[in-house]
Amino acid sequence: MNDRFLRACRRQTVDRTPLWIMRQAGRYLPEYRELRARADFLTLCRTPELAVEASLQPLRRFPLDAAIIFSDILLPLEALGCELAFDPGPRIAKPIRCSAEIEALSARPLAEVAPYVADAVALLRRELSGCVPVIGFAGAPFTLAAYLTEGHGHDGFPAVRALRAADPAALDSLLEKLTALVIEHLNLQIAAGAEAVQIFDSWAGILSPADYSSFALPAVRRVIRGLRSPRRDHVPVIYFAPAADHLLELASSTGADVIGLCWRTRLDFARRRTGGRVALQGNLDPAALLAPPERVRERALAVLDAAGQEPGHIMNLGHGILPGTPLASVEALVAAVAEPERWPV
Ligand code: CP3
Repeated sequence: MNDRFLRACRRQTVDRTPLWIMRQAGRYLPEYRELRARADFLTLCRTPELAVEASLQPLRRFPLDAAIIFSDILLPLEALGCELAFDPGPRIAKPIRCSAEIEALSARPLAEVAPYVADAVALLRRELSGCVPVIGFAGAPFTLAAYLTEGHGHDGFPAVRALRAADPAALDSLLEKLTALVIEHLNLQIAAGAEAVQIFDSWAGILSPADYSSFALPAVRRVIRGLRSPRRDHVPVIYFAPAADHLLELASSTGADVIGLCWRTRLDFARRRTGGRVALQGNLDPAALLAPPERVRERALAVLDAAGQEPGHIMNLGHGILPGTPLASVEALVAAVAEPERWPV
């Protein structure tokens, strides 16, 4: 088994820096576009055979060091009765805006509403037969609350901030429900065989440190404490909050083993600010992959240099790979990470 990803999560020494790519299954791959021509995004997510096919596609092309389940952070909201659509961005049919709507949300067991999640994890584990580890994932409670109140992506997500200002107790109650849902979602994936999990707090960066500490951070801490299973010790947690330099020290206190960084943050700065308490993941600018291969190589090597020699770095992009990325760029990235002269034996 290639365990350099899991070893790096635990800040153990590795033979070379592991690499996986956020959104590695996606539209930059012609075979993904073909799959999508046959089935819409939600059908892919809800059909374990198709979801596993999407997860495996990037691994057939590139020797990546981890696979990630093909799904979306918003799917578990269906257990709260929310109707979802993607075009390709998410749309929630009836956004939740006030305390009466929040109190009316009642959760059905995820294992019943979304059995395909655990089925896809188990099938992916079987298909990979130990080649590389499987990463499960979920949205963080605050980021899910941002989508649920707004109804769709929005710069700055004013609805959740307005709810916080107008009725803090209502937001607390919403976060409590979402925290329970995220714990259930991640524990289902871990029980089905996920070997690491990533928590996406994509919009935490819109919060001030004071707001983050008072409600978003405690929810993430409760999630991480709630991932109890006999195998919990062996399931590293990655916490990714992009555009959140101002929250970096706080993020390193969530209990996560790894902090994912977007491209705006310097890795050496992040190392100092997190005081060696966590491993770091990232953080090549996805737009760097739109350059010719030689430039991709230089930018990738610069990230590896900034990460330094200490154990505990996982190479990745600073956000999801862009749909227009040339395959030759991904090849150049893979080759840069594997350059033998960086890894004297
Ligand atoms: O990384 C992977 O390969 C696993 C799959 C994955 C998807 N979404 C598939 C997807 C993961 C890990 C996610 C996480 C996700 N989803 C996040 C957190 C990461 C981030 O971007 O900050 C968020 C915020 C979402 C919500 C979401 N889903 C958005 C904003 C969009 C539209 C963005 C876009 O790329 O167009 C989606 C749709 C989505 N999720 C697609 C994929 C492959 C595109 C759908 C399609 O094929 O039409």
